[in-house]
Amino acid sequence: MKSIPYGKQNIDQKDIDAVIKTLTGDFLTQGPKVKEFEENFAAYVDAKYAVAVNNATSGLHLAVLALGLKKGDRVITTPITFAASANCVRYVGGEVWFSDIDKDSYLLCLESTKKLIESKPKGFFKGIIPVDFAGLPLNLEAFRKLANEHDLWIIEDACHAPGGSFTDSKGMVQKCGNGKYADIAVFSFHPVKHIACGEGGMLTTNSEKIYKKLISLRTHGITKENMEENHGDWFYEMQELGYNYRLTDIQSALGITQLAKNKKGVARRNEIAAIYKEAFKSKIKFQSLGKGTVNAHHLFIIEVEDRKGLYDSLKKHNIFAQIHYIPVHTLPYYKIIGYEGSDLINAENYYANCISLPMYPTLTNKEQNFVIKQVITFIDG
Ligand SMILES: Cc1ncc(COP(=O)(O)O)c(C=O)c1O
Repeated sequence: MKSIPYGKQNIDQKDIDAVIKTLTGDFLTQGPKVKEFEENFAAYVDAKYAVAVNNATSGLHLAVLALGLKKGDRVITTPITFAASANCVRYVGGEVWFSDIDKDSYLLCLESTKKLIESKPKGFFKGIIPVDFAGLPLNLEAFRKLANEHDLWIIEDACHAPGGSFTDSKGMVQKCGNGKYADIAVFSFHPVKHIACGEGGMLTTNSEKIYKKLISLRTHGITKENMEENHGDWFYEMQELGYNYRLTDIQSALGITQLAKNKKGVARRNEIAAIYKEAFKSKIKFQSLGKGTVNAHHLFIIEVEDRKGLYDSLKKHNIFAQIHYIPVHTLPYYKIIGYEGSDLINAENYYANCISLPMYPTLTNKEQNFVIKQVITFIDG
């Protein structure tokens, strides 16, 4: 059996042709493919605006800047995420506070977050960065209610979840990143994610004001709008300090063809998840799914007592499982700056047992059956 990774991009001839066409065209960057990708992505998630960026880490940085985060401001996020969800707060000198996860969904726990917020005076926190972890959408309606009560913004880290959705209390399907309950959402196009651009990211929002700010910050803070002076068509102003966080047209061309097959990809991921669940039911714990929720299944995670044993055993059979994630507050950098926050017992228990099994649309049934067989053989001893 050839090696089986935990995640993998799916590049076909259409993707290759789209990139080649762009390479031989007029624009390698700042051209029409970026706009087309943004428009297609906004339509896909039902958001008004989308802004393409060179990766989701840059996207998260722009998101906190656009929401006015400053040195010393405090933001709550989950410890079970990739470090980038927290690092964006540190980029502007803010303080990261972690709140515990729910032990069954592995998502930021509403109750713990509420407790943490209410343990401090009003105005103590500025925002929340919840994560649609593993592709499972958070109930953002409930978080929005809490955020509104305490004047907080929400950045939805939807890096794992293009194509995911939850059903709100009115029975309406809310797609991840649609901007209904979050101020901004951020997606990643790293190759292990659903949409592979090599590197890449997308911000979505329904606010025109935030959209304009993101556009400005993405390109150095340079604009031709609302200028103090205008000396000719060539003239521009740099009105604030921004960055070069642009996505190229080459990457956008790939993003367009990748996005076009994401619906199919998410359906296939759910087929794979259903097979895992059937094989593991009443034997092994896996991430629970709320009613009316569509998991985009970036990952398929199980919890086992001897996690290291299983990891090593799978590796011997050329199956490269992964651990998502080492809790962010236990990483040396966050230990050094001194983590403060609520009790994170669920996150720590989860981390002791979690392991992500292969999950990607081109995983074959034969490969998956081989993975399942190795897992069950190990568990049954
Ligand atoms: C939850 C989460 N947020 C943010 C990021 C950062 O994405 P990127 O690699 O595109 O910067 C990742 C990437 O792994 C992620 O998993």
